[in-house]
Amino acid sequence: MDEKIVRELEGIVGDEWVITDIEKMRSYLTDETAEPVKPIPVIDVVLVKPKSTEEVSAILKLANREKISVFPRGGGTGLVGGCIPTKEGIILSLERMDGIEIDRENLMAVVEAGVTLGKLMEEADKAGFFFPAHPGDEGAQIGGLIACNAGGARAVKTGVMRNYVKGIEVVLPTGEILNLGGKLIKSNTGYSLMHLIIGSEGTLGVITKAILKLYPKFKTSITMIIPFEERHNAFRVVPKIFQSGVIPLAIEYVEKDLMEKSAKRLGLTWPCKEGVAYLLIIVAETDEEAVYKQCETIAEICNELGALEPLIAESRREQEEILKIRSEIYMALKPETIDILDVAVPPANMSKLIDRIDEISKKNGVYIPIYGHAGDGNLHPHIMKVEGWTLEQYNTIRKEIYKAAVKLGGVITGEHGVGAIRREYLSLCLSDKEITLMKEIKKIFDPNNILNPGKVLPM
Ligand code: LAC
Ligand code: ZN
Repeated sequence: MDEKIVRELEGIVGDEWVITDIEKMRSYLTDETAEPVKPIPVIDVVLVKPKSTEEVSAILKLANREKISVFPRGGGTGLVGGCIPTKEGIILSLERMDGIEIDRENLMAVVEAGVTLGKLMEEADKAGFFFPAHPGDEGAQIGGLIACNAGGARAVKTGVMRNYVKGIEVVLPTGEILNLGGKLIKSNTGYSLMHLIIGSEGTLGVITKAILKLYPKFKTSITMIIPFEERHNAFRVVPKIFQSGVIPLAIEYVEKDLMEKSAKRLGLTWPCKEGVAYLLIIVAETDEEAVYKQCETIAEICNELGALEPLIAESRREQEEILKIRSEIYMALKPETIDILDVAVPPANMSKLIDRIDEISKKNGVYIPIYGHAGDGNLHPHIMKVEGWTLEQYNTIRKEIYKAAVKLGGVITGEHGVGAIRREYLSLCLSDKEITLMKEIKKIFDPNNILNPGKVLPM
């Protein structure tokens, strides 16, 4: 990086917050993507840590003037290489922007981009509220969660990140600052630029602040572990629950060996000995009686569809442990994982999809464990290592799974996004016209293609 540019960056954020020593920025060059598919970072980069929106704006103006690439990053918990610098340029970490204010009257939080999910949950809790979204890793930061429209387990009742966002402050690649949305429940004022930026994976603007919807604390919450001997029955249960009028906070599909493996890695014990597959269902309501009633309804439905005796967790510690074991399946499988996929299909087609994936697995002799968000139709088949295989062989498997999902009315990614590693597959589920429109939109926002180049859009 040009010395003159480094000096100018220091002038904007202060010497201390411009890092050029590669040894001091190793953890900023990576994310949680599985190693075999993770992009190799370009190391001719400078790491910059602004403290304010004005500083972010000045950095982007400079970058745009000099046509330097900028790679915004939050907690680095992404799974598709979305924040990895794949060109020389600036890594923009928002971690120092970590202010948070709770607006009790509007049930909203005003949160800076660098606030972690863990901190938001904690602050909401202290103020008597609840932020239900739980995309696994609590080290994720708000800016990144919104930029990637993160999902996670607790999305059935209250939605994914997009459903919480009421307003954002965003800095455009050209440096202008926009305030989109607000503390509003209703707004129909033209095209929603806010929703365009949510999920744009840091390619259209840098989110610096957000207004997020909070929920009153659910008084009671119960986690049910429902074992099945026949995994299709687990999927059959899902629509029946919704048809009964019960909307749980989460409905997860997991398999016994995966939960045991994850528990072991965490030094915990998976409490359920029966069955081969499970639904993990979290029921939470502000009214205690409603929770028990809903659990009863769920238990009846499961019983009718051949489930074994459910295990009920009521204490906060037990429930957190179950969610933790579930959330860390990926980390437990990661050392042997080539790629974690993230396909989503209409929920009623999940059974067909896992059958197709089983066929692909058997035909090719590759182990493909599956778990995921059964209530959302979003599953995570892992393509696992096979001794002696080339990346080309794995690509074939990946494509077969993608095609199977698309054929069932699905998409290639339901929550992890496109990032650096799924671009070439976008055309499997988007039309040429859609991709052209996306490319045109990118040009309007970022005429010099400086912001997170080489991500999301196909070449
Ligand atoms: C999960 C992450 C990998 O559902 O999306 O565990
Ligand atoms: Zn997931």
